[in-house]
Order: sequence, then structure tokens, then C-alpha cells
Amino acid sequence: MTAATALPAFAADARPRAYPRALLVNAQGDPVTASSLKPLTNYVFHYPFEATPVFLLDLGKPAAPQSLSTKSRDSYAWPGGVGLRRSVVAYSAICAHQLVYPTRDVSFISFRKTRAQRGVQDALIHCCAEHSQYDPARGAEVLSGPAPQPLCAVLLAHDPKADTLTAYATLGGELFDDFFKKYEMKLSLEVGPRARNPVTGQTVVSELEKFCRNSIQC
Ligand code: FES
Repeated sequence: MTAATALPAFAADARPRAYPRALLVNAQGDPVTASSLKPLTNYVFHYPFEATPVFLLDLGKPAAPQSLSTKSRDSYAWPGGVGLRRSVVAYSAICAHQLVYPTRDVSFISFRKTRAQRGVQDALIHCCAEHSQYDPARGAEVLSGPAPQPLCAVLLAHDPKADTLTAYATLGGELFDDFFKKYEMKLSLEVGPRARNPVTGQTVVSELEKFCRNSIQC
């Protein structure tokens, strides 16, 4: 490749990656409405694969669109919150540093309504492993710590009539290949052979404190 045809410093912009659509439902299979979410409460569902957790949050105030970029310098435009108040957001709960994620036994990464011990502000997502912190109101951009990129966003479609939420894509730096490589054995015990199956149709939303026996606060 000659200098004249060299790639620009910014590679092609990151685009949403579509996955099968999944309606957010509660444990009884009823749709979860955006207005039924408790503000500043950490919810979890799984998407786009059965073993990949996502944090769902109602931030209690609108989250504006945000320009971000991945560690490979692909820029992207996070579209902001959804719902009637544009306050509902969702992000892959796999830490962008070393892939820490919430399980049923323990979670080292979670949303903190009030400032974590080492937090730089209230209402951030904090990973206790090496204290990466992400701002869920700004596309999960990195506020501090070693994480090299924002948490990957999960895009939600909001039906204004029914007030339901449907996951349909990711946007940003996906880490699913690394995640499945790193945790292959662990996931086969935790989730079984379905771990990498795509989630289709619907996905169950739980509060993190009910989903996980031990949410570590640091
Ligand atoms: S894995 Fe989250 S900060 Fe290192």
C-alpha cells in the first residue's frame, strides 16, 4: 500500500450490529415497561447471547446522544437513552479491561447510585477488579481506570404506545469473542452448551441484587 492509499487514522466508523430482536420481559414472561423500571436501580438481562449479561438502567433523567470511540479508534454515535423520558440505557456488563462480568454467584462490576469508595462521581458503573469506571449517562464512556474503551452499548427500541423495550443490536467495541475464549470452561459449567446461543424472542430482566448472590461493593 502506498502512502497515498494508506488508511486514515480513524478507521471505518463503528456501526450498530444487528442481532435477533428480544423483548424485555419479567420472570413471569410479561413485558417490562420502561416506566415500570425503578430509577437508578441495576437490572440485568442477557443479550445477544445466552451467557452475555447486560446492565439495564433508568437513569431518572434524559441521557443525551454522545460521540465515542472504540480502542481501535472506530468512532461511533451513541444515540442516547430511550423511553418517554429518554432515560433508559443498556450496556454489555463485560468490563472492557479484563472482561469481569456478573454471575449468579458474584459481581465485581455494578452500577453505583451513590459514589463508590473510589468513585469519581455518583451514578457510575464501577468495576472492582482494577477500578475502571464508566458513565452510563454518556454512552458508558470511561471516567477512570485502565479500561481502554466504553462498555459496548446494547440498543433498545422503545414502543411508545405499549412502553415496551426490545433489544435489537449492539454498538461500539464488542468483546464477545474474547469473552467466550477466556471463559469457555467456566461458561460451560455455569450456562451449559447454550452459552453461545443467540437470544431470540424475549429475554428476562432481573434486578442485579436478585440475580446475583453477592454484589461486591468496593
Ligand atoms: S476487569 Fe474491570 S477494571 Fe480490570
